Amino acid sequence: MIAAPLVALGLAGIAAAAPAASLCPDGVHSTVNPQCCFWANVRDRFINEIFLNVCMENVHSLVRIAFHDAIGFSLTSNKGGGADGSIIQFGETELAFHANEGIDFIVDFLQPFADTVGITYGDAIQFGAAVGLSLCPGAPRIPAFVGRPNATQAAPDKTVPEPDDPPTTIFARMQDAGFSPVDLVHLLASHSIADQAGVDPEPQVLGAPFDSTPFSFDSQVFLEVLLRGSMFPGSGPNPGEEQSPLSGEFRLLSDKVFARHNLTACAWQANALSQADMSSNFGTQFSKLSLLGHDKNSLLDCSELIGTPPPATAKQAFFPAGKTHADIEQGCATVAFPTTLSTQTGQPTMIPLVQVQDIAFGKK
Ligand code: HEM
Ligand SMILES: *[C@@H]1O[C@H](CO)[C@@H](O)[C@H](O)[C@H]1NC(C)=O
Ligand SMILES: *[C@@H]1O[C@H](CO)[C@@H](O)[C@H](O)[C@H]1NC(C)=O
Repeated sequence: MIAAPLVALGLAGIAAAAPAASLCPDGVHSTVNPQCCFWANVRDRFINEIFLNVCMENVHSLVRIAFHDAIGFSLTSNKGGGADGSIIQFGETELAFHANEGIDFIVDFLQPFADTVGITYGDAIQFGAAVGLSLCPGAPRIPAFVGRPNATQAAPDKTVPEPDDPPTTIFARMQDAGFSPVDLVHLLASHSIADQAGVDPEPQVLGAPFDSTPFSFDSQVFLEVLLRGSMFPGSGPNPGEEQSPLSGEFRLLSDKVFARHNLTACAWQANALSQADMSSNFGTQFSKLSLLGHDKNSLLDCSELIGTPPPATAKQAFFPAGKTHADIEQGCATVAFPTTLSTQTGQPTMIPLVQVQDIAFGKK
């Protein structure tokens, strides 16, 4: 009667051991699933030729196009095939929509890249975003599925929310695609690695970021959007823009509204206060976004190729130099913003613009 538990233990031991990777035909990569060998090379090319191994403008771009492509989807009516690459395949239609302003710059390098490596646009967008996020300190590791077929139809206009849309309109659109207002707050952790070019096209705000740390997937954006606004960094006010609290920083009207709206303010504040929860909540919702329109079981799981992102640069959000708890506009009605966060030392400085990256793809 001693044997049974021993056998059980032995099996548990086998089940827990990581499955062995084996060498790919290229003699370079090793994968557990041999079908992922091809994708290991695509991953490397993304990192070396598109992202230049950093969480900068091109990673930010991939995360934005991943949203704009995937949200062409509805649970209740035909609004496109979700994460299917239609934004590139049917770019003549979709890139003319006002909400897709600036996406053409992303397509300019991503389309020739996808064509060169031989992958569908849907995979290029979502696999690329997962690879890109793995370069961002504090980001979650996003599961990577591939095998999305070519898109068969364009998404219609008005599937992508705009920053001057009323919150009820944005909530309804997101709900129609399967995301609650709180799920949307979690997806908006993406604005931690983001800047603008189209809301205010003035050169001095071309690349003006939404928080003071645009190369770090941290909770600063949630904290900084709660600070009282005092200035427009460029030619503002523009439609969809609100006053920002820091010189050089850009604030979207929609972000300001969500931080103070009774359906979203408490989730917004919670994300400001927990790097770990913010990151994992984003991972859950972004994975769901990347699979819209697909049955996960019909795709190939190459999550093993996605590296672990560097650790967060800070465990906790901080007040930028010159700001304190007194600058917080309390949004959440039930939990007060804590008084324990510290202020960055030194004098307030202008938040620098995010620069474009110099890559070969897309060079005309
Ligand atoms: C209410 C929903 C949202 C609105 C109104 C909104 C609006 C915007 C706007 C206006 C910009 C600036 C674009 C430009 O001028 O270049 C932007 C940037 C960005 N957005 Fe959103 N967004 C929303 C949700 C999301 C979601 C769900 C994601 C991803 C999960 C996302 C990811 C990004 C990223 C990464 C950028 C920066 C792109 C770059 O720096 O190149 N956004 N967003
Ligand atoms: C997608 O379309 C391109 C161009 O027509 C074609 O070369 C490719 O084989 C298609 N991919 C799939 C998975 O159908
Ligand atoms: C949120 O505010 C709206 C009006 O602005 C109100 O109708 C609604 O009852 C409030 N909801 C909650 C949960 O407090």
